[in-house]
Amino acid sequence: MDNINYLNIYNYINLEEKNEVIEGLVNVGQKRLDSKFFYDDYGSKLFEEITKLNEYYPTKTELCILEKQKKLINECLPSSASIIEFGSGSNKKVKKLLNALNNPVEYFPIDISEKFLFENAKDFAKIFPKIKVTAICADFHQVDQLREIVGKKKKKIGFFPGSTIGNFMPEKARKLLENFSYILGNNNYLVIGVDLRKNKKIMENAYNDSEGVTAKFNINVLERLNIEHDAFFDLKEFEHNAFFNKKENRIEMHLVSKIRQSVDIYNRKIDFQKGETIHTENSYKYSKEEFSILSEEAGFKVKKVLTDDKNFFGVFFLKVKVKKEEIK
Ligand code: SAH
Ligand code: AVI
Repeated sequence: MDNINYLNIYNYINLEEKNEVIEGLVNVGQKRLDSKFFYDDYGSKLFEEITKLNEYYPTKTELCILEKQKKLINECLPSSASIIEFGSGSNKKVKKLLNALNNPVEYFPIDISEKFLFENAKDFAKIFPKIKVTAICADFHQVDQLREIVGKKKKKIGFFPGSTIGNFMPEKARKLLENFSYILGNNNYLVIGVDLRKNKKIMENAYNDSEGVTAKFNINVLERLNIEHDAFFDLKEFEHNAFFNKKENRIEMHLVSKIRQSVDIYNRKIDFQKGETIHTENSYKYSKEEFSILSEEAGFKVKKVLTDDKNFFGVFFLKVKVKKEEIK
């Protein structure tokens, strides 16, 4: 296939990653791991399974919005643009977006899960032979390098679906949006999916599915530490816990130690009391107004917000209106 290129600019930060893991676990207060650690190849596959579960409403709802509102999407976004997707996963949503656009020319899927990214990008390139695909294995915080790669494209549409923005604390989410505005440049667009606040039971069920796939997804992060980070977690001695934290407006996922135990990682001992947890993920749930304010603070103008009948999920159409040091 001649319409695809593969780039990996991620490897160089592995030492940082090691320090990040250790720091999060030796923490005297709440032990924590960044949710990006979920996504090795198996983690990406488990996430894909989650998206198909009855209880997990975000994927179905967002796909439905993108499918049903093609006309409005088309009106909001420029023709002949390059699409840059942050955290592209199986890239099934961008296919819907592309169907709504006039003459999209290039696609840059960006993800840290290398094998999953490259395989899905390859399938994508077969389905859209006229679109030039550059799959970039990177952390989407690698702002300068990403800007270097995509910056020269004239018309850009950033795409950040799935409510991955919800996995960041609001202050970090704002900074990430600022960085995206810098990568995209003034007057370009960002289409971003955001999970909205709703009935607690519906939200909690989405993270406590009856088939236990979310539990496997959560536990897999320990398996990954065992394989990649010289750790010795006994997986059967930890269990999944997810709940809505009303004060913080977020679902929290934790791994709970079933017993008092010590675990080795990089030749250090990490002690767990019975019931002590590792906080593995936050998934913030916003109101439309809150997310609009956050976007405007990050230098975007909100052009449109599309939702479903039940107001479960919002797709925000944002336009970069300078800031981030007035983008050069
Ligand atoms: N956009 C897809 C996938 C969402 S899951 C969807 O809507 O279904 C979140 C994706 O973001 C995963 O594929 C994960 O590998 C990727 N990801 C998480 N943190 C990342 C980071 N810091 N940099 C790049 N990709 C990241
Ligand atoms: C990718 N991210 C937005 C998902 C979420 O809903 O927070 C990850 C996930 N965690 C558990 N289930 C799905």
